[in-house]
Amino acid sequence: MNLRCRLDHCLTLACAIGMASMAATAAQAPERPWMNTSLSPDQRAELVLKAMTQDEKFRLIRSDFGEANNGRPMPVGALNSAGYVPAISRLGLPALQESDAGLGIARPDLNGKGATSLPSGLATAASFDPQLAYAGGAMIGGEARRRGFNVLLAGGLDLERDPRNGRNFEYAGEDPLLAGIIVGHAVQGVQSQQVIATVKHFALNALETGRHTLSAQIDPKAAHESDLLAFEIAIGIGHPGAVMCAYNRVNAVYACENDWLLNQVLKHDWAYPGFVMSDWGAVYSAGKAVLAGLDQESAGESFDQTVYFDKPLRAAVASGEVPQARIDDMVRRILRSMFAVGVIDHPSKQGSLDYAADGSVAQRAEEAGAVLLRNEDDLLPLSPRLASIAVIGGHADLGVLSGGGSSAVTPPDGNATNELPPPQEWPGPRFYQPSPPLAAISRRVHGKVQYNDGRDIAAAAQLAAHSDVAVVFVEQWSAESFDWPHMTVPDNQDALVAAVAKANPHTIVVLENNGPLSMPWLGQVGAVLEAWYPGARGGEAITRLLFGEVAPSGRLPMSWPRDESQLPRPQIPGAGFTPIGLMPQGQPADSVDYNIEGADVGYRWFQRRGIEPLFAFGYGLSYTHFGYDKLQVQWKSGRLVASFDVSNQGKRDGVDVPQLYVTLPGSGQVRRLAGWSRIALKAGETRHLEITADPRILANYDATTHLWLRSAGHYQLQLGHSSSSFEGNSSIELQAGQCATNACRMLP
Ligand code: BGC
Repeated sequence: MNLRCRLDHCLTLACAIGMASMAATAAQAPERPWMNTSLSPDQRAELVLKAMTQDEKFRLIRSDFGEANNGRPMPVGALNSAGYVPAISRLGLPALQESDAGLGIARPDLNGKGATSLPSGLATAASFDPQLAYAGGAMIGGEARRRGFNVLLAGGLDLERDPRNGRNFEYAGEDPLLAGIIVGHAVQGVQSQQVIATVKHFALNALETGRHTLSAQIDPKAAHESDLLAFEIAIGIGHPGAVMCAYNRVNAVYACENDWLLNQVLKHDWAYPGFVMSDWGAVYSAGKAVLAGLDQESAGESFDQTVYFDKPLRAAVASGEVPQARIDDMVRRILRSMFAVGVIDHPSKQGSLDYAADGSVAQRAEEAGAVLLRNEDDLLPLSPRLASIAVIGGHADLGVLSGGGSSAVTPPDGNATNELPPPQEWPGPRFYQPSPPLAAISRRVHGKVQYNDGRDIAAAAQLAAHSDVAVVFVEQWSAESFDWPHMTVPDNQDALVAAVAKANPHTIVVLENNGPLSMPWLGQVGAVLEAWYPGARGGEAITRLLFGEVAPSGRLPMSWPRDESQLPRPQIPGAGFTPIGLMPQGQPADSVDYNIEGADVGYRWFQRRGIEPLFAFGYGLSYTHFGYDKLQVQWKSGRLVASFDVSNQGKRDGVDVPQLYVTLPGSGQVRRLAGWSRIALKAGETRHLEITADPRILANYDATTHLWLRSAGHYQLQLGHSSSSFEGNSSIELQAGQCATNACRMLP
């Protein structure tokens, strides 16, 4: 054990010293003209390409799994992480050290240290705050850099088409504009640290059940107006160095050998200059994948049937199936991203992490992203003067829950609990971030704070009956590789909440979960706070929200259905995960029909069908309330701009998220989020704001011309507290037009 640690340390150190000296010599060497920083990334990539041997090119277009696996030792120079491409020292190219994922550095490094976890991607999305997304990206990018990584597999973006999808917590909700803007800024943040970000999983990886074979069936126009739009927006804002193609098939063709997705949409229509890497175990061919646009095979020796991008691809080049020019294009794209993001000019260096500073970034994200769903008779905020509080369930004495799978972040000092519920193996274990709500609550309250773990329901109810207030923590562990078959709260916690609420009407429920669950006890409890997976400082953040030290300001980034019957597909055949007692019913389907809702994902589906969910997209309470007035809509320089007054009409300071929705001519009740603002207002304060609509939201995608075309007609605008509650209407007559990222122009 000791020897192993020392050896690992030497490797790490050697690697760091090697990289630093490599950078120094590279900068000076006249024979390395690509180190001239006045050249563009494209020019620099071209110069390296010219100097490369065929073997060096073939080494760059595949990564190895960076961990020991199945008796195979960890590759020398790797950092015990998801992916590793060795350095090409002769040319001054550093190794590509790839780490998961979007919430932080996922695996402990060689010295066994963990990292800082952001809350769920859904919390960041719920903040509706691009600056906060940027700060989170910069924090995890900075930690990646100081752990020696230069590629982060961060940028999860598949739209939420089903609340039961096990990976929703890694993504950014159901709306393409919100998800695209939030993830685009997170990508910018990661790359501000000279670490390549990877938007994923391209595309339509919206379910985990049968994910290696499931075909997402969708009309291309609908795909462009939903999931692809989210990617288009995020890529346009963040310029990620890499895009990861998904496991699933799209319209029967594997995403990683899908010419339509990779060549036509991503590289041709969007002119994406970076590289496409595969997901781990998503490659099924050499020539076919390469000709469809895949640039790098990830960890093929551990996850694919064979390493396709070595011998089989060399054979395909030799036979003329794959032109050499395409191999050069793949290499050029990888090099271009390395130059563009700065991984060659500013190599990552191992160093210590500032957990205190980084934890406060995670805390801010949770404080801004937790959503207050219910607050009867102003039960919240709580007073520190309460005589007694019962804290019940959810391991609130130990910490806060994280989601599982490749994105799970090991806390710096390890898991907060040794008493691990199953599964012990991947996608487990369940991590609890050591930020216990119980301790944070106890620090606030002068009176008695008592804990009951919730397993004995009668005892928990009795404690609640003798307390002024009961706070019940409800948890639902969810992870990569499986979906929940239903929306029911697990482990008899519904009965726990019902019993506690019966014993004490001043019951507050805090949810630590993947997202929407049915809540049969909703009408009996006083308050509900959706805390998602709350991240490294979750306990502190939740407590500050409960006591009003910070105003709740999160807004739901998805609709919250009452139950499964309201969903486009009430069943997910084969969903479940036996180790946690979710017995799969039936076999996974071969395909999933996303044409049912098409581009009308989430709230648009509910509006189209006239169904009322339990909570609407964009909904969230505060400890004050806001009013809108004087909505005006104008057309300025090819863009639609709404201006209005927003007032804090309550007695407490707060943060509001006014949302602008547009109804296109002829689209009935279906509205689209066109833009929003996030604003802090003092009690009684009024401010004048403007929201500019994203031009593409006013248009429809035309699959023949590949353009965003706007119809002539009457556009209805509504200012919303959510996607179903409005205060302010206006409309504008627009001519037919063609729209792009920045503006629309009139068509003759
Ligand atoms: C996941 C990816 C992840 C990769 C590497 C896969 O199982 O789908 O999101 O980046 O593993 O760990």
